[in-house]
Amino acid sequence: MKFLILSFLFITNITRLIFADYLAIDAAFPRTKKDFNCALNKGYQRAILRGYREIYGGQIDPDFLQNYNNAIAAGYKYIDVYMFPSATKSTNNKTNKTPQQQVRELVNFIHTNHIVVQTLWLDIEKADKTNLARWNMGTTKNRQFLKEFHDVLESTKWNWGVYSRSGDWKTITGDINWELNSSKKLWYIKVDQQQSLNNFQPFGGWKSGIGKQFDQNNNTLCNAIFDLNIFKA
Ligand SMILES: *[C@@H]1O[C@H](CO)[C@@H](O)[C@H](O)[C@H]1NC(C)=O
Ligand SMILES: *[C@@H]1O[C@H](CO)[C@@H](O)[C@H](O)[C@H]1NC(C)=O
Ligand SMILES: *[C@@H]1O[C@H](CO)[C@@H](O)[C@H](O)[C@H]1NC(C)=O
Repeated sequence: MKFLILSFLFITNITRLIFADYLAIDAAFPRTKKDFNCALNKGYQRAILRGYREIYGGQIDPDFLQNYNNAIAAGYKYIDVYMFPSATKSTNNKTNKTPQQQVRELVNFIHTNHIVVQTLWLDIEKADKTNLARWNMGTTKNRQFLKEFHDVLESTKWNWGVYSRSGDWKTITGDINWELNSSKKLWYIKVDQQQSLNNFQPFGGWKSGIGKQFDQNNNTLCNAIFDLNIFKA
């Protein structure tokens, strides 16, 4: 009897993993084990952590490792990393790092620290209107930079995808339909509070997204700020 109950639980869990869409949180800035534990208990099964940030010409996010350790300690089994690259003419007058250098830094950091991530997301956005320096190289150079990121990420053989929104894609590349590689997975931003992937508006050659960020800076889910996402099973 005990065995039967356990098998049943096992099967329903597997079914849930295969068929149901699921929720995810993403975070930059320090979050505690308690914060991650709260999000996990609220059903947010995946944690996506910022591993690389754009400032100072591009650098490992100083909170990445601690956030990773806290998420693991809180019980997270499924963790992704996102990379906010530096893509500007200059940042604080420092020479910008090449896409190859930036990706290598993140890959090396992940290896050195024995971090296990499922997917690496390349964050392509203007986002903050106060930071006009992002992707200010002109659309031709922006596209070239994106292709370089694409090629170096491909060369890692890692599972990677793109995080972006249609408006930023248009501004950065100069054409909403310009394709980097629409065979890559897309996690898109549409802050509409809808836990649904059914209202996607195509851009970049993508006809659908595998994930959507539906809420940003949410501080009522838990007593900490998280962005909220839904992913296809
Ligand atoms: C960058 O260099 C320019 C020109 O030399 C200077 O006016 C500006 O203050 C510098 N910015 C920073 C952040 O150092
Ligand atoms: C585009 O992405 C797909 C899926 O990851 C990959 O198989 C393919 O090689 C990529 N295309 C190019 C031109 O690199
Ligand atoms: C934050 O998330 C919770 C739980 O999904 C939701 O009820 C709330 O409306 C969200 N938005 C804000 C601004 O708190």
